[in-house]
Amino acid sequence: MAGNKTLTIIKPFAVKNGKLGAILHKIEESGYRFAAIKTLKLEKHEAEEFYAEHQGKPFFDDLTDFMSSGPITAAILTKENAVEDFRYLIGATDPSEAQEGTIRKMFATSKTRNAIHGSDSDESADRECDFFFSRRERLKTDI
Ligand code: TYD
Ligand code: MG
Repeated sequence: MAGNKTLTIIKPFAVKNGKLGAILHKIEESGYRFAAIKTLKLEKHEAEEFYAEHQGKPFFDDLTDFMSSGPITAAILTKENAVEDFRYLIGATDPSEAQEGTIRKMFATSKTRNAIHGSDSDESADRECDFFFSRRERLKTDI
């Protein structure tokens, strides 16, 4: 159903700093369920493909260097109105602008190293889920 799934990435810095469990816990206690999850390391060209919409922007090289610098955890999350609600849960892109209680406010260290990704639309969620997960890797058959 439209709007009921989103793709998240716990970014390298959060994984390296031992914040993975805390972030996953916060996601679950906020009502999301994991429909797929894995930890992997992206090659630079894979990070460039994932963030293709930002090609040519001044932060693109730093962003894709960072996203390919260490392990990340990617997951498909399900909940009603998942895309919009999850963007609210993670907070503003720049952690200095993120509201208290949001994941970026709690765990981000800079605008580029902002701890977590969330899809920005249902179309992005479909594309991003397909980027990371085969059908076989999904724990439900309808997502
Ligand atoms: P964007 O899609 O605009 O933000 P969001 O992750 O909130 O959807 O940008 C993608 C990532 O690029 C963002 O999470 C962090 C990085 N970024 C920068 O490093 N500097 C910037 O000025 C912007 C806009 C993004
Ligand atoms: Mg975005």
